[in-house]
Amino acid sequence: MNTINEPSKLKAEVTYNAAADHFDDGPLAFWDRYGRRTVERLSLSPGSLVLDVGCGSGASAIPAAIKVGPHGRVIGIDLAERLLDIARTKSIAQKLHNVDFRRADMAALSYPDNSFDAVVCVFAVFFVTDMVKQVRELWRVVQPGGKLAITTWGPRMFEPGSEAWWSVVKESRPDLVTGVNPWERITTKQAVLQLLSDSGIENADVTAEDGQQALQSPEDWWTVVLGSGYRWTVEQMSDEETARVKAANLKTLLNNGIKFIETNVIYAVAKKE
Ligand SMILES: C[S@@+](CC[C@H](N)C(=O)[O-])C[C@H]1O[C@@H](n2cnc3c(N)ncnc32)[C@H](O)[C@@H]1O
Repeated sequence: MNTINEPSKLKAEVTYNAAADHFDDGPLAFWDRYGRRTVERLSLSPGSLVLDVGCGSGASAIPAAIKVGPHGRVIGIDLAERLLDIARTKSIAQKLHNVDFRRADMAALSYPDNSFDAVVCVFAVFFVTDMVKQVRELWRVVQPGGKLAITTWGPRMFEPGSEAWWSVVKESRPDLVTGVNPWERITTKQAVLQLLSDSGIENADVTAEDGQQALQSPEDWWTVVLGSGYRWTVEQMSDEETARVKAANLKTLLNNGIKFIETNVIYAVAKKE
C-alpha cells in the first residue's frame, strides 16, 4: 500500500519541496543548529548505524554521519525529494560516503525490529496523525542498548514573527488560518514526556532549551516564512495576495523593531534497555 498518498503527507511533501529553495538560507540556521545539538545528545560511537526520519536537507543526518565515521552508516528518509537532493549534494561536498538519503514515509518503516543503534527525528514527529503510533514505530527499530532522539519545537515558535504573520494572513485570506498547526501539537516538556510514556517509553531524558534566531532585517523573516512550514500557506495565495501579506507583515516587524524570533526547543533522548 502506498501510504504516502494520505492528505497530511502530501501536504508535508508539497510544503517542503516548495520550501527547499530557502530551507538552507542564513536566517534558517536553526535547522542546522538544532540538528547538530540533537546528535550531540546521542553521544554516537564510531561504527554506529543511525536512522534519521524526516531528515530534511541533512541537518542531523550529516553531523551523525561525521560522528559515526567511515565504519558507521546513516540512512536519512524524508518525503520531500528536493530537500533530499540538497542533503545528497551537501554530503558529497563533505566527502561523506556513509550516508544515504531516501524518499520514504517514516510512518511505514520497512526495517526489521532492533535494526539501528540510534533513531533521530527532529521537528517532524508532529506531522503524522498518530504520534503515539509513530513513536512506537521508531522505538521498534531501535536495538537494545540503542537510543531514540526526538526534538520538537517549544512554545512560541518564531514569535513575534508568527503572530504578525498570522494576523495579516487572517485579514487577507482568513480561510488559510488553521486551528492548530502541526508544530503546535506538542510544545512542552510535559507533553513530550506524555507522548513517550503513551508510547511505552519511560525514563527518557527530556530537556527544554530556549533559543533565538537573529534577524538582520525584516526581509530575513520573510526568508523564514518561505523556508519553513509557513510555505504551505504562501503556496495557496495568489502573487498579488502574497505581495500584500508580505508588505503588511514586514511593516509590522519594522515598526516594532523586531531583531530576533524565538526558537525554543524540547530535546528528548531515550535509551532502550
Ligand atoms: C520541519 S522539517 C525538519 C527537517 C529536518 N529534520 C531539520 O530539522 O532540518 C520536517 C520534515 O519532515 C518531513 N516529513 C513530514 N512527514 C513525513 C513522513 N511521513 N515521512 C518522512 N518525512 C516526513 C518533511 O518533508 C520535512 O522535510
